[in-house]
Amino acid sequence: MLIVLAGVLEGEDLARVRARLDEAVWKDGKATAGPAARAVKNNLQAGGLADLGAFVMEALRRHPLFEIAARPRRASPVMFSKYEPGMAYGPHTDDAVMGGAEGRLRADLSYTLFLADPESYAGGALAIESAAGEQAIKLAAGDCVLYPSGTIHHVAPVTAGARLAAVGWIQSVVRDAAKREILFDLSMTRARLASAPREDLLRLDKSISNLLRLWAEV
Ligand code: NI
Repeated sequence: MLIVLAGVLEGEDLARVRARLDEAVWKDGKATAGPAARAVKNNLQAGGLADLGAFVMEALRRHPLFEIAARPRRASPVMFSKYEPGMAYGPHTDDAVMGGAEGRLRADLSYTLFLADPESYAGGALAIESAAGEQAIKLAAGDCVLYPSGTIHHVAPVTAGARLAAVGWIQSVVRDAAKREILFDLSMTRARLASAPREDLLRLDKSISNLLRLWAEV
């Protein structure tokens, strides 16, 4: 399941991130790719922006859907990427386990937070394979898509302008994407039934909690 988190960064927050990236030093993105992905990765990444990454992560965590969509346990450092004309990231799947001994995590969910206005660059959609075919995603600046890390996905070639994004990985308390989806649907339904009889809500809350108790690894 793909979940779009709209408006993770807006207004001054978005401007602040873009201003910092304007001054960033960009390096070849192959340096941070796993062995299989290296062959198909052709982009730029900004280094030394840990504080900006933390700022973006805080914005993600504040988004009302992030917690129920991801059920995060650990998060990778946020990476900033740029694709200029001719750059692309060919079909690949993200590493299952990433990070050094200190910050090791299992990548259950990947995210791409779009930072450039879609009209400002051509190409550059994130394309994610599923049984129903390929889904191409190109969102407004400040919007973020969460998707399962185990999918085959690619970034289409950029043909004009520059595609800027923040990307990263989440280890979820709930490893299985199908189970996360059940919990997400129930939690969304719960939110919409706020005025239902209290006893019914209590049963629903109990069911959501107990499913999480069955499935959570903490
Ligand atoms: Ni990827």
